Amino acid sequence: MRLLVSRQNIGRLAAAHIATQAALVQAQKNFFVLGLPTGETVLEMYRFLCESARKKEIDFSHIITFNMDEYVGLPPTDPQSYHYYMEQNLFKQVSLSPAQTHIPNAMASDLEKSCAQYEQAIYMCGGIDLFVGGVGRNGHLAFNEPGSSFSSRTRPVELTPSTRQSNARFFEGDIQRVPTQALSVGIGTVLDARELLFLANGAHKAEAVARLSQGKITPQWPITALKTHPRATLLVDEAAASLLTGPVQQTLLAQQAKFPEANTWTVNL
Ligand code: GLP
Repeated sequence: MRLLVSRQNIGRLAAAHIATQAALVQAQKNFFVLGLPTGETVLEMYRFLCESARKKEIDFSHIITFNMDEYVGLPPTDPQSYHYYMEQNLFKQVSLSPAQTHIPNAMASDLEKSCAQYEQAIYMCGGIDLFVGGVGRNGHLAFNEPGSSFSSRTRPVELTPSTRQSNARFFEGDIQRVPTQALSVGIGTVLDARELLFLANGAHKAEAVARLSQGKITPQWPITALKTHPRATLLVDEAAASLLTGPVQQTLLAQQAKFPEANTWTVNL
């Protein structure tokens, strides 16, 4: 995998990459299957994607989407639900119809069955071409908390107190209002995608980025699963790269010294 450190807006870079890949894949098989995240990190990416759609730089009419996760118990009309987030930040702005989009149904009476159907729907679309994601402060991917198996599939999960605390900012700071359960694609579901693009920004993500770059591959840091994928990129800003040390840091510093005018630097991990 590669680590890409950028001083440019990572949301803009991610949106540009999605547009390029969508066009390339659509040229081969007519449609593009895109895995999508929620969260603060990717808000700018969605803004740029909507702008690109308005400028006709990306065509959503042949794109099928699958979201990573949803809180159990929040209806799609709840402003904190990921259904609502996606509707506001992407779907309605780029005219993605309900038939093109998928989000785990966390209101289903049988959650296990709904998760199995979600995996089936991904399979029926021929798998995910590009899975885009964010990273939790504790290194979680989607809602795969530390300890999740790298072969896990879409399933109900319990949220850790630290994730609920970190997401309480979306619930007026009240951790009691943050659901205790979610439906999440598994790490195995993510790793099955043909390409991965994960984003992290800010100093609060620096430890997770350092663990991925320098630590061993372990379920205790779900983010390290990215290293097992043949075509994965972690795109970070300079703050998220601030705890890098050793050879990874040396490689980046050498590039910065050689190409001081560049906006992105890359290292293979
Ligand atoms: C949530 C989501 C993750 C997301 C993470 C980071 O817990 N389930 O998919 O990557 O938070 O969110 P943020 O970008 O807000 O830091």
